[in-house]
Amino acid sequence: MAKNREVVDKFGKRHTFSEGMEGVVATSSEICFINGAEGRLFYRGIPIEDLAENSTFEETSYFLLYGELPTQKELHDFDTRLKKYRAIPDPVLEILKQMPRKANTMQILRTVVSLMGLYEEKSDEHSVSETSREAEKLIAVFPTIVAAIQRLREGKEPISPDKSLGHAANLIYMVNGEKPDAYAARVLDVCLILHAEHGFNASTFTSRVVISTLTDVHSAITAAIGSLRGPLHGGANEGVMHLLNEIGSLEAVDEVIRLKLKTKAKIMGFGHRVYKVLDPRAKILSQYSERLAEITGKQKYYAMSKKIEEIMENEVGDRGIYPNVDFFSASVYHYLGFNLEIYTPIFAVSRISGWAAHVMEQLRENRLFRPSSVYLGDIDRTYPKISDR
Ligand code: ACO
Repeated sequence: MAKNREVVDKFGKRHTFSEGMEGVVATSSEICFINGAEGRLFYRGIPIEDLAENSTFEETSYFLLYGELPTQKELHDFDTRLKKYRAIPDPVLEILKQMPRKANTMQILRTVVSLMGLYEEKSDEHSVSETSREAEKLIAVFPTIVAAIQRLREGKEPISPDKSLGHAANLIYMVNGEKPDAYAARVLDVCLILHAEHGFNASTFTSRVVISTLTDVHSAITAAIGSLRGPLHGGANEGVMHLLNEIGSLEAVDEVIRLKLKTKAKIMGFGHRVYKVLDPRAKILSQYSERLAEITGKQKYYAMSKKIEEIMENEVGDRGIYPNVDFFSASVYHYLGFNLEIYTPIFAVSRISGWAAHVMEQLRENRLFRPSSVYLGDIDRTYPKISDR
């Protein structure tokens, strides 16, 4: 249920509005449909389960950007372009190397993407071809930036992209220097598909608001990264890992979670503005987490996650609070060997496709976003001289 708020303004006029714009229709879109009551998600009409089973991140990105699934040739050409655009421009890489190692990865990613905008020759132009070229370049380069940030933090040299590897496998390779096995690469590929798009969430809406001023694409994407970073949004997957580490053992789950619920603390990775049942992406990720726990022989994080899910279902399930996409992605990334600092950046590596698709859609029939608010401050105050204050 939307949290409606009723206020009376200084003129005695009563206003009712939805806090956090819950349920407010901001514009129309053909990119994503979410049925929050039944836990269904569709990218351009295709159920997320079908895409997770049959597609690749590259194909899904093409589909989101251009509206139709690619032919073999279109996919080949798209993939070739992505591979061509993977490298970070040299001057940007040099500046990246100077950035503080301890800074938050999302903040560095945001800064680097903003910086890359300086090297785009025509980033203020909004022709379809120019915008789609910029979108493809950003999708291609995000993994290279995230991997470079992580390597530099560890005191290692960034690794150049490998054209023989797909998008997901190449990310793993650039992070740890070893080519992954086919299963690990496929798991990450599915993670990237699942996180690629999700309607008018905070970061996507941010990108559309920013581009609606007809500013450059890099400004819109830079703002979206800043939005995704927050713990109420994409930052929650790191929050989940912190929670799992804080709990520490399967035996301690019960006590810690119940105490947190008692003190009204939010459990990261649970709850969603739209889903009031299990997030379909969490369902898929839960299965991968279970499989990875078996393969690696390290049951702890999956077992703890399942126990938390069980307690939460009993305690708050009737209030529509279930695992969201961030909950099981934490243990999946853990099993894939990723460092906690790049969990949210991996989300960005995927969501750039959705942001770019929305930026392109917004530009096709743009109208400036300019909502209003109810003014509750004072009116007609006199201006006191500074000596009288
Ligand atoms: N743990 C415990 N209680 C919760 C949780 C949670 N994770 N989520 C919501 N609630 C409770 C709130 O405390 C509140 O209770 P109250 O009515 O007694 O005050 C009620 O449910 C409604 O919560 P809101 O925060 O108002 O609901 P909203 O629609 O804004 O929630 C949100 C969405 C922000 C995602 C929230 O569920 C949350 O903070 N979850 C934890 C962070 C998280 O996992 N974010 C990732 C979301 S998915 C994504 O962005 C990719």
